[in-house]
Amino acid sequence: MDNQGKKRGRKSITDFLVHIHPPTLPEETLRFSLSWGLGGMSATLVFLLFATGILQLLTYEPSIDGAYESVRAMYSQVPFGGWIRNIHHWSANLLVIVVSLHLLRVFLTGAIGPGRRLNWIIGLVLFDLVLFANFSGYLLPWDQLAYWAVTICTSMMAYLPGIGPWLSEIFRGGTVVGQSTLANFYGLHIAGIPGAFVLLMVWHFWLVRRSGGLVRLQRDEGPAERVPTVPNLIVREAAVGLSLIAVVLIVSIFWNAPLQELANPGMSPNPAKAPWYFLGFQELLLHMHPVFAICVVPVIISGLLLFLPFWPGAVLPGGEWFGGGKRGKILAIWTYVAGSLFTVLLVILDEKLLRSVGSKTGTADVFTRGYFPLICFTAGSVAGYLLLVRQYRFSRGEAVMAGMVLGWAVLVALTVIGIWFRGPGMQLIWFGG
Ligand code: HEM
Repeated sequence: MDNQGKKRGRKSITDFLVHIHPPTLPEETLRFSLSWGLGGMSATLVFLLFATGILQLLTYEPSIDGAYESVRAMYSQVPFGGWIRNIHHWSANLLVIVVSLHLLRVFLTGAIGPGRRLNWIIGLVLFDLVLFANFSGYLLPWDQLAYWAVTICTSMMAYLPGIGPWLSEIFRGGTVVGQSTLANFYGLHIAGIPGAFVLLMVWHFWLVRRSGGLVRLQRDEGPAERVPTVPNLIVREAAVGLSLIAVVLIVSIFWNAPLQELANPGMSPNPAKAPWYFLGFQELLLHMHPVFAICVVPVIISGLLLFLPFWPGAVLPGGEWFGGGKRGKILAIWTYVAGSLFTVLLVILDEKLLRSVGSKTGTADVFTRGYFPLICFTAGSVAGYLLLVRQYRFSRGEAVMAGMVLGWAVLVALTVIGIWFRGPGMQLIWFGG
């Protein structure tokens, strides 16, 4: 290629990059501590998932007679097949964590106010899509882990009032998990969900671009010192993206994605657990009435998340973590620690003193297992909010932030208990199960 051709090639790459980014951006938004590169990491992981997913299609067989063997063949017969599967698996699981942190970062740096509200909502849909993509892929290897996790989750779905049994049957393609379920999940996993990802991600990026890049320091509203996107941002994005790819590729050499024995509908493992990212809700199911754990609580959480950017004064000042002050940071740390400890205490109390875990009468009682805990939690949250705002003079944004941090602390604690501290019969392993 002559010099002229090389220059033209370089210009078209620059033009493309400028299309998905603003041509210039405020210098202050380049600092790594603002975004931690989490949005870019999410995009990198989605890219890895698409690439390795397409490659797996060359070997994978979407039938209950062939799926399991085709996955085993990736390790024994296909050059690099096992490695590709491992990359897909670790990227998918890491994406759940990275995208959760990205959600928290945009909230905690006040990047959800006017001009960014729609992007917050699209982000919430993307978050659900990440979970759904993981869940639909979970069944595809057709091993014991996959079969029973999907059986549990589709049974959990059936608790939704009214539409639950119908929805669960639609997903399963019948009354039990079988060939139709595998066909449904396969179709969603390789076509429906990736299609939705492409559309929503393009929209998401375009909205970031339309709002002039990342959120700026609110207390610094003067004209921004702007620098060109290429090379300033591109070099940073490439460094983060390539380092992440390197880490995932190396981890995937040493750690295989799990694959248990072939699915056996006649023999349920004990304990039978949902995938780890749903274990917080499976844990909640042990303590609350199913309709509350599976429907009421998630609906309230989703409603609050959607409403947040529109609640006057509830969004933290933009461009700084925890609202900028030291007090906000300390409040967040203490709320997290107290929320985690409180959750662990409540779980132990419910299991050991009230002895209701697993007891049929306990889980079926709508008042003591549904309304009562919900009313207590809501009353406690309102009292906590009023205390922070009236007594300790925190701003509304800081008090709402404490609520968000508390919610995550509870969810993470429940998930950790579900993953590591539940043994046979879903008893707490700590007590000898
Ligand atoms: C596959 C999932 C996602 C991808 C690939 C993605 C990607 C990105 C990227 C690359 C950026 C710009 C850089 C950065 O902030 O790090 C961004 C910004 C943003 N994202 Fe996401 N995101 C995803 C999910 C989410 C979720 C779950 C939320 C929240 C519910 C969200 C809300 C936002 C908002 C509000 C911004 C603008 C931030 C600002 O102006 O400072 N995104 N996203």
